[in-house]
Amino acid sequence: MDKLLIEGGARLNGTICASGAKNAALPILCSALLSAEPLRLTNLPQLQDVRTTQRLLRELGAEVEADAETGTATITAATLTTHTAPYELVKTMRASILVLGPLLARSGEARVSLPGGCAIGARPVDIHLEGLRAMGAEVIVEGGFIHARASRLKGTRFFMDTVTVTGTENLMMAATLAEGTTVLENAAREPEIADLAACLNAMGARISGAGTATITVEGVDALHGADHRVLPDRIEIGTFLVAGAMTRGQVTVRGAGSGLLDAVLRKLEQAGATVMVDDDAISLDMAGRRPQAVDVHTAPFPGFPTDMQAQFMAMNCIAEGVGTVVETVFENRFMHALELQRLGADIRVEGNTAIVRGREQLQGAPVMATDLRASAGLVLAGLVADRHTLVDRIYHLDRGYERLEEKFRDLGAHVQRVTRAPQEAA
Ligand code: EPZ
Repeated sequence: MDKLLIEGGARLNGTICASGAKNAALPILCSALLSAEPLRLTNLPQLQDVRTTQRLLRELGAEVEADAETGTATITAATLTTHTAPYELVKTMRASILVLGPLLARSGEARVSLPGGCAIGARPVDIHLEGLRAMGAEVIVEGGFIHARASRLKGTRFFMDTVTVTGTENLMMAATLAEGTTVLENAAREPEIADLAACLNAMGARISGAGTATITVEGVDALHGADHRVLPDRIEIGTFLVAGAMTRGQVTVRGAGSGLLDAVLRKLEQAGATVMVDDDAISLDMAGRRPQAVDVHTAPFPGFPTDMQAQFMAMNCIAEGVGTVVETVFENRFMHALELQRLGADIRVEGNTAIVRGREQLQGAPVMATDLRASAGLVLAGLVADRHTLVDRIYHLDRGYERLEEKFRDLGAHVQRVTRAPQEAA
């Protein structure tokens, strides 16, 4: 099992390029099921979750030609050979639920293993199912499977009780082939949803309002092939900018797009960073200053993203002052706090609030990753801790960050991937 060995103390300085967004790539790959013609994608990140999704599409009968080196793939779902997304695959990646809507809309039937919970919460999919029922599908859950059937979905108006990203994506994809118009209210507004809608519209769908709380989809009879470039990964960009702030350095991320992470940039400025945004890049300069503690309160987009919560908790651990971190989206997303305490962090967790008292220095130690973004927080802490930090179970990281240790090394960090830790770090 791979680990990351980090020698703390390097001040990051330099430029890296943003990768394509994992949370756009996954639904966009699944949207290929809606058409019998080829969907040609570029800027796909080289991630375990992308490879898992491509495997799932092949299981369903789609032809997938992918070149991870160039980040391109062509998916042709001319004929689907099964309606079933197997447990073996779904249990490794909850986002497999994103084949439910497209499979049902395209073939009239879908059988998808019910995604279990995960480290950060129960992660129910009740809104996905209620939305499909509202479109006329018969949906039953038995034997650990979701079984949905509909000769043809019917357009409807559906209010989502909770803002859900993949719920919005599943229902938006299903609605593209429904009879009539669907209006999704209280929809999630994440940029990845607008990117998915842009891809679907290129395929001939008629979607308006994506990126706002009300999305309108006029159903069509069929979708055709298209070309689409996946938007940059705002969470990867934010992670590297926080690394620059924590190490008091200067980091530029090229290909960062704009308007993707304003709430994060404002918080970095509050922490004392100088942030510059131009058409193609975002630069952060800490000019050697120690970050000031900041308060963060996670919320659906355009609020502060829950996927950046662990990274800011890590920054607060070494900041000047006391910062509070309030997690409102998931019920169990503070596991990194326990691991950060192993590095000497002063964190008190009370319900969904963590009070972090900044310290001048953390002490390197072996720590364990529990979920994707928690792992990122631990790596960031290791960059500033003294001596060595060994992060175990980094398969979590490989799901969501492309060539992470290479990019950190490009910025001057001392990070290496090991499969067996040297004695002194154990
Ligand atoms: C997406 O997960 C992202 N994953 C997550 O990123 C991200 O943290 C999350 O959105 C919030 O931004 C992908 O896009 C693949 P939700 P998702 O449905 O869609 C509740 C990462 O690290 N809910 O928006 O599963 C749910 O319990 C991952 O890249 C219901 O109650 O999240 C949660 O409390 C982690 N019923 C809240 O809504 C439902 O039917 C938001 O969840 C659906 C969700």
